[in-house]
Amino acid sequence: MSDAGGLPLEKASQHREQYLSLQRDSLRDPESFWAKIASQLVWHEKWNKVLLWDPPFAQWFVGGTLNASENAVDKHVKSWRKNKAAYLWEGENGERRTITYGEFHREVNRLASVFQNFGLRKGDTVAMYMPLVPEFPIAMLACARLGLPFTVVFSGFSATALAERIQDCQAKIVVTADGGYRRGKILELKTVVDDAVKESPSVKHVVVFRRTGHVVPMIEGRDHWWHELMAKASSYVAPVPVESTHLLYILYTSGTTGKPKGVAHSTGGYLVFAYATQEWVFDAKDDDVYWCTADIGWVTGHTYVVFAPLMHGLTSVIYEGALDYPRPDRWWEIVERYRVSILYTAPTAIRSLMRYGDDLPKQHHLDSLRILGSVGEPINPAAWQWYFDVIGHGRCPIVDTWWQTETGGIMISPSPRLGLVQLKAGSATFPLPGVEADVVDEKGNSLPPSEKGFLVIKRPWPGMFMTLYNDPERYRQVYWTRFPALYYPGDYAMRDAEGYFWLLGRADEVIKVAGHRLGTKEVEDALVSHPSVAEAAVAGKPDPIKGETIVAFVMLRKMAIPSNQLSEELKQHVRKMIGPIAIPESIYFARALPKTRSGKIMRRVIKAVAAGGQIGDLSTLEDDASVDEVRQAIEGLQTAEKTT
Ligand code: WTA
Repeated sequence: MSDAGGLPLEKASQHREQYLSLQRDSLRDPESFWAKIASQLVWHEKWNKVLLWDPPFAQWFVGGTLNASENAVDKHVKSWRKNKAAYLWEGENGERRTITYGEFHREVNRLASVFQNFGLRKGDTVAMYMPLVPEFPIAMLACARLGLPFTVVFSGFSATALAERIQDCQAKIVVTADGGYRRGKILELKTVVDDAVKESPSVKHVVVFRRTGHVVPMIEGRDHWWHELMAKASSYVAPVPVESTHLLYILYTSGTTGKPKGVAHSTGGYLVFAYATQEWVFDAKDDDVYWCTADIGWVTGHTYVVFAPLMHGLTSVIYEGALDYPRPDRWWEIVERYRVSILYTAPTAIRSLMRYGDDLPKQHHLDSLRILGSVGEPINPAAWQWYFDVIGHGRCPIVDTWWQTETGGIMISPSPRLGLVQLKAGSATFPLPGVEADVVDEKGNSLPPSEKGFLVIKRPWPGMFMTLYNDPERYRQVYWTRFPALYYPGDYAMRDAEGYFWLLGRADEVIKVAGHRLGTKEVEDALVSHPSVAEAAVAGKPDPIKGETIVAFVMLRKMAIPSNQLSEELKQHVRKMIGPIAIPESIYFARALPKTRSGKIMRRVIKAVAAGGQIGDLSTLEDDASVDEVRQAIEGLQTAEKTT
């Protein structure tokens, strides 16, 4: 246990009482609580009902209309912040740009005008496949300005995955770039888009931002250079007020089936929650330099690189490239150069930087830092301590923030703004105001301290997703039937004797590889789509840097012969079907996979074998298979031929 990030312990426990009573108050009358925060945003028409709760569907700020880009940019160009930096951008190749709120506003407007000229109207969807450049948030806000729901696809996904997402939401436009830099190489984004669009008839235009300047094929009439379109665009387009429940974006995420889930976020509720949590957790002031290192392709980037910091008029850093390129002190160099005061990153990044030792961060002035954040997976105490001691010099509280794509914003975290509680390495501490969380057993009964169970959220919150796009039944099924009337995020958790929440990883078939969320079933489906594969079972294996890596057990079809070459081919096949982030680290060729009599793969067994750990007492397996069968299958797996 460490002290509360520089606060004397005594004071931190006073804060706990103060914080918890504030938390309790917020739950007494949550609607007035949220309404008060909502009134800090710019609305065209005020809502007439804060919450319409028709379980499991919530509508927040019903009757209210607003515009996200107006809240994120217009608000600031009317104030002194017009000339304040919205983004300090650094390319991997060393290029630098500063974009003020005034400039940002103009670009957002121009791109909105481009979209208008394409004939896009409120409700039409746009897909994005972008490198980390300022044009990425510009494109998101230009969509929001016109009420065009957008979907961002992380640039580590393949053409097949991109096409699947474009088709699901019927995007009419794709915004991309000629490339982006990653470890000194060019990411060929445009060619991926070309392959995806070939199979996506809904797409009428592709807008290409010139980032690298290398030659890319352009299709006459369909593909347009960003700079050429912008040169002809108007510099002002009136923001289109949309209903609070208007779809702001769809973000596809992995679940327990192969098909990605389109998490659908609202405009009003989402923005209010993003606004509130940014303030509570990061406590940013006007003179802060804030750096959330997440890729905008993931939800952390959507909320905490784009919408929330912009609404608060903050100055954010965006860095395009790899964290250790060209040298492993690149991040520390950036912190020093821009005098970053708030750094928000993922445990996997902390662990990989930790691997390079203490000397590199020590060679840089990191004294500008005042708050450190963590997100994406449980942070192990060793990484926490290193972050606290070596990066934060024992002065900066670590806000370990638990949340997910579906929640829209941070749910459980310390709050430096509202009253920092004493920190414990590895605990996200307490739910934020307005959030009621609990830990329950299989039957949904609240568990006493120190017992591991399932995390649940007991009431709606403004940032919650509205539904799964085009699939409300799946929304109900996945999140609301496990425990009736409780939101089930799919995480294990425990509370300690002092009520602190400890998040203990996924309770379902979702794995986190270097913070990237993937479904085992997704990878299995990809493997099985290869002609040599009859069956596949995939599990996460604990990894000291990435948190987890992917291990695949594959049963080949009769004619196929195990070999290193085939293993490599299967990896390339997964890369093609999903993307490089999903490539299994190892593939084992097994004669059989452990299955129940009803034919379901025994995931618990696969996971245990993948982790190389003890399988445990086989007689307690709840699966309907005989112990002997399972034992045989395990032996089969353990002696499976490994290739690398
Ligand atoms: C995990 C990322 C422990 C969790 C914002 C959750 C965490 C999943 C934490 C969502 C944390 C996220 N401690 N686990 N601080 N933050 N997780 O949708 O399992 O990519 O359900 O959203 O990440 O991942 P997603």
